[in-house]
Amino acid sequence: MPKLCVALDLGPEEALKLVDSLLDLPVVFKVGPSLLLSCGPSVIKHIKDRGKEVFLDLKLHDIPTAVARAVSVAESLGADYLTVHTLSGPEVLETASKTALKVKLLGVTLLTSHGEDYLEAVKLGFRSVEEAVLHLSLLAKEKGLYGVVCSGEEVRKVKEKTGLFTVVPGVRLKSSPEDQRRVKTPEEAVRNGADMIVMGREIYKDPNPKRVVEDVLSRILP
Ligand code: C5P
Repeated sequence: MPKLCVALDLGPEEALKLVDSLLDLPVVFKVGPSLLLSCGPSVIKHIKDRGKEVFLDLKLHDIPTAVARAVSVAESLGADYLTVHTLSGPEVLETASKTALKVKLLGVTLLTSHGEDYLEAVKLGFRSVEEAVLHLSLLAKEKGLYGVVCSGEEVRKVKEKTGLFTVVPGVRLKSSPEDQRRVKTPEEAVRNGADMIVMGREIYKDPNPKRVVEDVLSRILP
């Protein structure tokens, strides 16, 4: 069954209010660095105490021991999912996988805000976004990660080639890309193979976030 993850890219009060307003719906909550920094780890406990899953989106990218320590702490706080950049390389990914006992590690491939111009600017040597995303997804699989984060454009191929759990951000009800590129609607993303879609602004900027969440769920759940 596909999952909907609500990105809590908000201040502490609004974030907790949004969580509490969506408790009766089957959603996962995503906590990023700004919310974690402003609320502290208690935000994870707040969500877990209400029986919901937490996706801790820290997008770790550091030396292996530093990443391993962060994985252990995230796990002890009860995070269900945790992101690490696949571009941090094989050694980091392997160390992170070996450290993770329960937390599901997700490898970020290329951010959905990145396109061919990013690859050219940083001279990564890939000929296309798709080639980069597939390569990084295969690396994540080889190193034992649970899943990957990629766009709705590449998710079909990633799923076919890796079979990993796939997380797709950059999802829009209509096309209004803001700073996201390679955007898809919820139903397109799921049809293409997304196991979890991530949505933020379209939900929390709406005057009635619960109505938007119900709408998205009705589009993606069988
Ligand atoms: O507001 P919007 O729906 O664009 O939210 C996108 C969320 O997805 C943000 O929290 C962002 O950090 C996250 N994300 C992303 N691209 C990735 C991984 C995560 O946009 N590759």
